[in-house]
Amino acid sequence: MRAVLLGAPGAGKGTHCKRIAERYGVAHLSSGDILRRERAEGTELGKKAQGYMDAGALVPDDLIVEMMTKAIQQAPTGYVLDGFPRTVNQAEVLDKALVAQKTGIDMVLDLRVSDGVVVERITGRRSCPKCGCVYHVKNMPPKVADVCDRDGTPLVQRPDDTEKVVRNRLETYYRQTEPVVDYYKARRTVHDIEADGDPDTVAAVIFQKLDPLAGKKKSRRGKA
Ligand code: AP5
Repeated sequence: MRAVLLGAPGAGKGTHCKRIAERYGVAHLSSGDILRRERAEGTELGKKAQGYMDAGALVPDDLIVEMMTKAIQQAPTGYVLDGFPRTVNQAEVLDKALVAQKTGIDMVLDLRVSDGVVVERITGRRSCPKCGCVYHVKNMPPKVADVCDRDGTPLVQRPDDTEKVVRNRLETYYRQTEPVVDYYKARRTVHDIEADGDPDTVAAVIFQKLDPLAGKKKSRRGKA
């Protein structure tokens, strides 16, 4: 399975891509997570990306495209893309790279959320710096406040999750990333997913779309 999950910041791309990766055994390729890893390791790419990310702007296409095409080549069992492509140019380059590899994208899903929900979700997000688990102080709190359920590591807030930077990220999204939805709509079916609802409801709709691709029956795991 090769899928793309589009959506504004805070739409739930990371949350649902993790569930998709687990359910279908594919790689979760998040451009944001890879960039944050590069930053934490102090690589050249991480240093170049830092200023853009902290301001809520996009990292230049050439850096991203090289990084993501490499990640795709290393995912032989399939993948779900999270945060990439994010400009029409990135989408075009991705399409060309996939044609050259004689593959293509099987499905594109677009998570639709309102701006108010985005700000509330992002300012309340906390994540584990060790395992990457994502929580929300109200919507998806850890069992013990501020501590990761999985490994007990203290949770952190991303530096770009302040209200001011979120507003910049939203503005960047409407200007540069929403046209990617139109790019795909002109070429293939894009499945709009109403993503304001609770995570299990949204996941059930996503799985309904993806299960046929993976040859799964709806009831295979009892619940979506
Ligand atoms: P990136 O990390 O991709 O950030 P983003 O797209 O802004 O998306 P987020 O990670 O903020 O949100 P999400 O949709 O994954 O939501 P989540 O599931 O966590 O990118 C960061 C930066 O890197 C960019 O600004 C840019 O600088 C750079 N970059 C990355 N890719 C790039 C590219 N291709 N080109 C150029 N630059 C690039 O959910 C959010 C919160 O809500 C969580 O707390 C979660 O628990 C909660 N939540 C999720 N779903 C629900 C729900 N249904 N109900 C209630 N709460 C929910």
